[in-house]
Amino acid sequence: MRSVILAILPILFIHAKCDDKYHEKRKQLVELELRMALGGNTTLNDKENIVNNCLMQHKFNELDYGFDNPDHYNLSHHFFNYRNQIQKSKVYKIIQSMPKGAVLHVHDMAIIGPDYFVNLTYMDHLYVCFGKPIKFWFSYTVPNTTCDGDWKLMKDVRKAAANVTQFDADLRKHFTLVCDNPDVVYPSIKETWTTFMGYFTSVYGLLSFRPNWEQYFYDALKLFRADNIMYVEVRSILPNLYELDGTVYDKIITAKAYRKTINKFLKDYPDFLGAKLIFAPSRKVDAKVLDSYIQTARHIKRDMPDLYAGFDLVGQEDLGNPLIEFVPQLLQAKDLNFFFHAGETNWYGTLTDENLVDAVLLGAKRIGHGYALAKHPALMREVIEKDIGIEVNVLSNAVLSLVKDVRNHPLNIFLSLDLPVVLSSDDPGAWEADPLSDDFYVAFVGVASRLADLRLLKGLALNSLKYSAMKAERKVRAIREFNSRWNDFVNHFDCKSY
Ligand SMILES: *[C@@H]1O[C@H](CO)[C@@H](O)[C@H](O)[C@H]1NC(C)=O
Ligand SMILES: *[C@@H]1O[C@H](CO)[C@@H](O)[C@H](O)[C@H]1NC(C)=O
Ligand SMILES: *[C@@H]1O[C@H](CO)[C@@H](O)[C@H](O)[C@H]1NC(C)=O
Ligand SMILES: *[C@@H]1O[C@H](CO)[C@@H](O)[C@H](O)[C@H]1NC(C)=O
Ligand SMILES: *[C@@H]1O[C@H](CO)[C@@H](O)[C@H](O)[C@H]1NC(C)=O
Ligand SMILES: [Zn+2]
Repeated sequence: MRSVILAILPILFIHAKCDDKYHEKRKQLVELELRMALGGNTTLNDKENIVNNCLMQHKFNELDYGFDNPDHYNLSHHFFNYRNQIQKSKVYKIIQSMPKGAVLHVHDMAIIGPDYFVNLTYMDHLYVCFGKPIKFWFSYTVPNTTCDGDWKLMKDVRKAAANVTQFDADLRKHFTLVCDNPDVVYPSIKETWTTFMGYFTSVYGLLSFRPNWEQYFYDALKLFRADNIMYVEVRSILPNLYELDGTVYDKIITAKAYRKTINKFLKDYPDFLGAKLIFAPSRKVDAKVLDSYIQTARHIKRDMPDLYAGFDLVGQEDLGNPLIEFVPQLLQAKDLNFFFHAGETNWYGTLTDENLVDAVLLGAKRIGHGYALAKHPALMREVIEKDIGIEVNVLSNAVLSLVKDVRNHPLNIFLSLDLPVVLSSDDPGAWEADPLSDDFYVAFVGVASRLADLRLLKGLALNSLKYSAMKAERKVRAIREFNSRWNDFVNHFDCKSY
């Protein structure tokens, strides 16, 4: 027995030596990758480390529970099935109270949730048409805008309802994509986008009524501020606003309404840093209409340079015109600052996928989504070299049928490569998400590495200011202001209060 042990001792010894080297190399590789990731090569001060310990303890609890009980792991399911659970998460609560910088990718008519629209339907002079989808219009007289049905006074319809509570609950369903059985209701991207486009048609008449347009954006800014966001860049199709007497304005007036609202908001809330506009009309147009959009963008850029951030084209990317069709015109308009949606698709090697190539070649300052980017190594290199911000919207990609389980979202690759990522929320009102915190939470817990910590969150917040369209010296001030609020957050942090 003893001889046997003696005989294997040398082998054990060699093995252990080998193990040391192996483990050393292994440790180096693991640490290298952590340092290469977004925020990974920064250090936290003592106070930040206290926050981080608390944050990570809760993150590990949530994730490790999910690892052991994958059937109960909320973030692997549809967002609609767990959105009401998020508020219970301590990680979420910490993220909510943390300064998050800016929101750089959000659309004009989908920021506030459905209850807001139900309230708007109580306003005077509102007509409703129960077509598919339902439409609304404010007017002194019966509207003459198209509708497949009859225009009726909303007040009369509600008065005739047997049960107003039920009537309003049914009405509310038209203002949200949220439902109880999303996997049945939305089997593919076709159904989600059909419902999503119906949503925009339904809220259009409620919001493009001039007084509502201004109030809605004012209230949206309030929500951003309450979610600890300091600055916003809003994409808008700039609908033609109208009045009760049938007056319809041009798009410049809509831009002016934004400017007026932002100024009023900044007067009421001087701690907010501001908002800018990205003119983002439909990509499903011909060259002539695109020309008129470019003229409008030029006009706004010239007359309202503080408001204007840039230009984009929107709509379901697989169905709209690819950028390549517009390249000659867009090459003549590079002065407009492009922020193109590109690569919001699962179809590898298609024209939609190649929108990423054109976005890069056309000199985009940032790219909306860039969901397909991980399949394009040369484009990733361009994105790094040209420092093009990638606006990632995880919940949007999940709700709009690009990815079912967010652990498979390509954001994790972007983060591991420290691509210039900013997190945003796209259309949070349409799926009843927070202005930004839900997206941050899901990206942090569900997409990023288990080991990614407070340095990632801080890095993402700083990126949102760095890649904003603020002017250089304004940006420096914004980052200084962010750091001061971050320090306040860190200095007043108490793990027990979460
Ligand atoms: C981390 O930052 C240091 C100092 O800026 C730099 O020399 C180093 O290459 C960085 N490491 C990684 C992995 O990015
Ligand atoms: C996940 O959802 C379940 C209910 O579906 C809930 O009990 C649980 O607290 C949630 N977990 C987290 C971490 O949110
Ligand atoms: C809707 O109106 C009610 C009653 O005025 C108000 O309490 C509620 O906050 C409003 N909801 C929204 C989302 O604005
Ligand atoms: C009206 O509808 C609501 C919601 O469905 C329901 O809870 C309530 O009992 C109904 N009221 C009456 C009087 O039927
Ligand atoms: C609709 O009515 C407005 C006035 O309310 C009028 O200016 C416009 O020409 C009308 N449009 C059509 C198509 O009849
Ligand atoms: Zn978008």
